[in-house]
Amino acid sequence: MGDTAKFELGGKSVDLPVLKGTDGPAVIDIRKLYAEADVFTYDPGFTSTASCESKITFIDGDKGVLLHRGYPIDQLAERSSFLEVCYLLLHGELPSASQFSEFEHNITYHTMVHEQFDRFFQGFRRDAHPMAIMVGAVGAMSAFYHDSTDINDPEQRMISAHRLIAKMPTIAARAFKYSRGQPFVYPRNELSYAENFLKMCFSVPAEDWKPNPVLTRAMDRIFILHADHEQNASTSTVRLAGSSGANPFACIAAGIASLWGPKHGGANEEALNMLGEIGSVDRIPEFVQGVKDRRYLLMGFGHRVYKNYDPRAKVMQQTCHEVLEAVGHQDDPLLKVAMELEKIALSDEFFIERKLYPNVDFYSGITLRALGFPAEMFTVLFALARTVGWIAQWKEMIEDPSQKIGRPRQIYTGAPERAYTPIDKR
Ligand code: SDX
Repeated sequence: MGDTAKFELGGKSVDLPVLKGTDGPAVIDIRKLYAEADVFTYDPGFTSTASCESKITFIDGDKGVLLHRGYPIDQLAERSSFLEVCYLLLHGELPSASQFSEFEHNITYHTMVHEQFDRFFQGFRRDAHPMAIMVGAVGAMSAFYHDSTDINDPEQRMISAHRLIAKMPTIAARAFKYSRGQPFVYPRNELSYAENFLKMCFSVPAEDWKPNPVLTRAMDRIFILHADHEQNASTSTVRLAGSSGANPFACIAAGIASLWGPKHGGANEEALNMLGEIGSVDRIPEFVQGVKDRRYLLMGFGHRVYKNYDPRAKVMQQTCHEVLEAVGHQDDPLLKVAMELEKIALSDEFFIERKLYPNVDFYSGITLRALGFPAEMFTVLFALARTVGWIAQWKEMIEDPSQKIGRPRQIYTGAPERAYTPIDKR
């Protein structure tokens, strides 16, 4: 018999099982609490709540550790590829050479979208935010790929996972091209995943497009850094949507909508805008004072789980230097502002006592801008990469025999019961 936690209230006493995972805090299993003690727990924002059991990603916020199926993020970023990380997240193990080549072939041969799908984009204004297009376009995939929406069929679950991973770059590139008024570019099967995406974004019919291996490697590494992150807001949205039995395309569209928020995936766009508003190193002290006066947040800083340096931010900072070097912007003034801002914030009591460190979004904006993307595309790239994490978590939930429809309760503080009064009596 494992440990138990004794809950006592109002003469009632309930022994609650304590469960221990591979690593991280133990959890108190409160599933029988309401039935036996007639009370709910209360945890808005889920700061102390484990919503599920998962084997995919582990984060130790105090140590700044991020593992995908046990492998540290810095080793995967350095030595793996995004598609190999996709296989790892979906299947739980690194692939053999033959498993990887079959997986890569499957993804490559699903990169095109239905020809009718391209007309979906025409309904948007050219100045539509690309994230608005992504929410609509990915949701619309349910209208095109009916043959992989039966969530109870493992074969169809895997096909929809392949379709989503394969088609997100094509759809994201179309959202970008549409906003630029440039023609859509078809994927090419001889290109790697990241190369294909960069070509679909930046090639034009007027000239040949040449891949830059440094930029391709940086793009692939940025996808790895954003692939999955435990039960964050958008992943929890995907799991909750999926718990009702909704099809995977609709669930991923819900995840994209949640990711768009400036406190979540929208922070990379906001962080670059913030660095642009600061403009120069000498204006940092005045800006930091504004953060301390609570006039605004320091975007790209702070995290619900990391109370230490986000390990992804370290890799992103190194990638930032590599990309700036490769495109000849090594003295980008915004990089100077970012590095000086980080130095000042990390030595300032206000940030230290709140354990605020740079997160994955702090350097990504400068890097993505140097790759040629406008700020409104940054969260689209985050969504493109996070799709594999969302679909792996969705698949894990569907395949969990104990999963039920998610239906939280509340503490009600509204009006007590009262009788209706006709309007002439009010
Ligand atoms: C992502 O969850 C994930 O894993 C997300 C993500 C992923 O990969 O999926 O990692 C991706 O979303 C990264 C986070 C990107 N967001 C930002 O950079 C936006 C700025 N950060 C904040 O909005 C904030 O830090 C959050 C939302 C990220 C975390 O907020 P919490 O955990 O709810 O913490 P909190 O708001 O309770 O903050 C604690 C204190 C508060 O001060 P006090 O009221 O206690 O005095 O720190 C302050 C906050 O006001 N604070 C900040 C701050 N973040 C927190 N003050 C200034 N600037 C900030 N950025």
